[in-house]
Amino acid sequence: MSDTRGFSSSFGAIMAAVGSSVGLGNIWRFPYITGQYGGGAFIIVYLLFVFLIGMMIMLTEFVIGRRAQSGPVRAYPILRPDRRWWRWLGVFGICTAFLILSLYVVISGWTLNYAVEAVTGRLSGLAPEQVSYHFDQFSSSAVAPSAYLLIFLVLTAVVIIGGVKKGIEAVSKVLMPVLLGLLLVLCVRSLTLPGASQGLNYLFHPDFSKLTSEGVLAALGQALFSLSVGMGIMVVYGSYIPVSDSLLKTSVWITVCDTLIAVLAGVAIFPAVFSCGLEPAGGPGLVFKVLPNVFNSMGGIGVVFAAIFFVLLVLAALTSAISLLEALVATVVESGKMGRVKSSVMFTVLVFIVGAVCALSCGPLRHIQMGGMSIFDFVDRLNSIYLPPLCALGTVVFLGWFMPKADIMDELSNHGTLSVGWLKLFYFVVRFVAPAALLLVLVTGILQP
Ligand code: PHE
Repeated sequence: MSDTRGFSSSFGAIMAAVGSSVGLGNIWRFPYITGQYGGGAFIIVYLLFVFLIGMMIMLTEFVIGRRAQSGPVRAYPILRPDRRWWRWLGVFGICTAFLILSLYVVISGWTLNYAVEAVTGRLSGLAPEQVSYHFDQFSSSAVAPSAYLLIFLVLTAVVIIGGVKKGIEAVSKVLMPVLLGLLLVLCVRSLTLPGASQGLNYLFHPDFSKLTSEGVLAALGQALFSLSVGMGIMVVYGSYIPVSDSLLKTSVWITVCDTLIAVLAGVAIFPAVFSCGLEPAGGPGLVFKVLPNVFNSMGGIGVVFAAIFFVLLVLAALTSAISLLEALVATVVESGKMGRVKSSVMFTVLVFIVGAVCALSCGPLRHIQMGGMSIFDFVDRLNSIYLPPLCALGTVVFLGWFMPKADIMDELSNHGTLSVGWLKLFYFVVRFVAPAALLLVLVTGILQP
């Protein structure tokens, strides 16, 4: 059944899921929060969370999706027909995916604009203040951010309309290796610049004094976001994984690739930033306000590296946006109410409307406040601190406490053909450790001002 429904090969399935997980979170966010919270110390905590908790949540979502052969809204009632209200968890996840996509396309639109400017050489030759001014000017303008957002969204929708095998799988199988290649080129360039070791030191030297409790929570939040878990996307992708594939192996591959690419992004960025004598703790503006200066200081060849970097970022963002849109479209298609093309168009319009409001809230709509924040910051806070951990909590509670253990065992062992000696550990984490960690994130998030 899954072979007609989903991906056609194990490689395709892994590349598509890696495509989902590798995104702006790895290349734009991971490097700057690592710098912020103590370099190597943060990385150690992150690794622990990503493998112990994030990967287990991914595995949980895969089990649910593949067992039910369905996206989240139908999967829960299929697995527990006597507790149909679990479908609301699926609905909640899909709403979360919608909100995340609406904000994700805004930043992706900025990235697309930078890629165009880098390729056409328009970023080169600007002084550092001009680079910073350029970003503020662009992101707060009325039309350009929404226009780029729309172009990016249409690109995403075209792939979704192409279908699971011919769209998502085909595109991911090409783009992911290309992305890795481009990133390695940048790493080599960065590491061969004078003074590169200072950047490596900043990234990897464990400074435990900078690792605050806030940093520990940020590491867990980042682990969930980076692996694209906590909104049912991996339930949808799980339902597409060939029935003969080991779900554990698939999850390990995805987690390893995702983590490797995040670390490589740090290696591509920090040595170059230090080599140019720039301020490393650039925060969210690191990629847009600091890196163009790094490329400019490389002389003529900098244009090429700038183009490589921003194209790389667009590709990473694209495959993540594809997974978010697919989760929405697949849910409606499965309900039988609409076809793939119609629902893709519908969600493109809806996401564009919400996304454009978020984009405008960085400029003309800045005065509109929600909870004392701009709309952009408000949605960002919902997306990073509250919604995914809450949805992930529901998902692990479902698997750990409501799904029949025999079904879990059967699905993880591919009907008894694979050994599952690790099942006890998995079950323990899903029943106790992950819920406790997620609750902690949620409570701390709520208590934070
Ligand atoms: N994992 C993606 C990234 O690192 C973001 C994402 C989150 C994609 C949730 C899909 C779902 O950028």
